[in-house]
Amino acid sequence: MYQIAPSILSANFARLGEEVDDVIASGADIVHFDVMDNHYVPNLTIGPLVCEALRKHGVTAAIDVHLMVKPVDRIIPDFAKAGATYITFHPEASEHIDRTIGLIKENGCKVGLVFNPSTPLEILEYTLPKLDMVLLMSVNPGFGGQKFIPHVLDKARKVRKMIDAGGHTCRLEIDGGVGPTNIREVAEAGVDTFVAGSAVFSKRNMQDKNRYNTVIAELRAELAKAKK
Ligand code: DX5
Ligand code: ZN
Repeated sequence: MYQIAPSILSANFARLGEEVDDVIASGADIVHFDVMDNHYVPNLTIGPLVCEALRKHGVTAAIDVHLMVKPVDRIIPDFAKAGATYITFHPEASEHIDRTIGLIKENGCKVGLVFNPSTPLEILEYTLPKLDMVLLMSVNPGFGGQKFIPHVLDKARKVRKMIDAGGHTCRLEIDGGVGPTNIREVAEAGVDTFVAGSAVFSKRNMQDKNRYNTVIAELRAELAKAKK
């Protein structure tokens, strides 16, 4: 089934707990949590303390931790303890991809690999059976609000074929520049999990009890039109 994963990168950090409550109450499925280190990517965001704070606040939805950090391994147990559901990482940021995959699983989390727009897919040949998620970046990582890079649709079709041909259960997620105007064609390329940051959080409606009802409903309506 399709899952919508709002990226809290575009939320109001001064009231983050309520933002996450609101977006889940409005019908979102999972919380996309962008971790940036000002080293692997040129921006700096949030770490395990914030993930733990969301759990303590009462967030029970899956938290999809997208690590844009290098090195990767040191921080994995901290995120597992902090309540991460998925931990995804960029292969360029790990010296030993198989070890990092194993480490995430040993710590009780679901694991995913993230491919930048121009990163080739070869690594999947040896990793796909172990993965719970493949995340395709449709922008260069580091910032919200960028423009969707169209060649990633071809990549999505390729990964969908690989997942189906191997009978894998892994989810196919896309991240960057996704909103109501393109979510349908992204779904038609085989994606089942949709990160949307600015498209969701810029549509806050203070008149509605569930502040993001309208935009989440709009995304779902577009998904309903997607041809299988
Ligand atoms: C970019 C992040 C994305 C970002 C998406 O490095 O990984 O999750 O927040 O933001 P939008 O949906 O605004 O492109
Ligand atoms: Zn992300």
